[in-house]
Amino acid sequence: MKQGKFITIEGSEGAGKTTQINNIKDFLDKQDIEVITTREPGGTLISEKIREILLDNNNTELCTDAEMLLVFAARSQHLHELILPAIEQGKWVISDRFTDSSFAYQGYARGLSLERIKVLKQWVQGDYNPDLTLLFDLPVEVGMARAKKRGPSDRFEQEKLDFFERVRQGFLSMSYLESDRYEVIDAQQTELQVSEQVLKIIKRFLK
Ligand code: TMP
Repeated sequence: MKQGKFITIEGSEGAGKTTQINNIKDFLDKQDIEVITTREPGGTLISEKIREILLDNNNTELCTDAEMLLVFAARSQHLHELILPAIEQGKWVISDRFTDSSFAYQGYARGLSLERIKVLKQWVQGDYNPDLTLLFDLPVEVGMARAKKRGPSDRFEQEKLDFFERVRQGFLSMSYLESDRYEVIDAQQTELQVSEQVLKIIKRFLK
């Protein structure tokens, strides 16, 4: 059986990822492609429990190394329980965030060594990588204002603007370094313009 594809969606808070994931899923459903949508940290029962620890505002003592190990623990479970079996069954998987978020948040923003993150990446996923990554890029202040409207902030959203500026620059650096896998979308456009750009990319990717 033909293997499925793995698409990841990245970007800072408030970039409109969820709307666009639903948009891609609707389009692929119409092409008779079986699609699973999921998210990180999370996606399985165990990984969602780890997500709760990571996002809980009460966990002010969580140290940076523990945070990084937890995101990779959640990812390992997610990959082996859900993502890889689905891909082997020919399904497409769209994940709201994946390993690039660890490089952006724990690496570029928190300052952990990128080399150390690469070691964990190799441990958890070997040479397996997404087939396509869509980066929804927008100025930090715009994203934060949108995120605030959605409701109370989680542990990450408590960070200051310069943290999210480093997250943004981290994602942009990765998109230059891995331009074959990455497509960058200007998330400041209207929702309709963003949807059109996203579907254009997906149609090209299907060919
Ligand atoms: P979300 O709010 O987009 O669902 O993402 C949850 C938060 O987790 C977001 O603030 C980014 C953070 N995160 C990391 O710090 N490292 C990671 O590897 C992942 C997947 C998410």
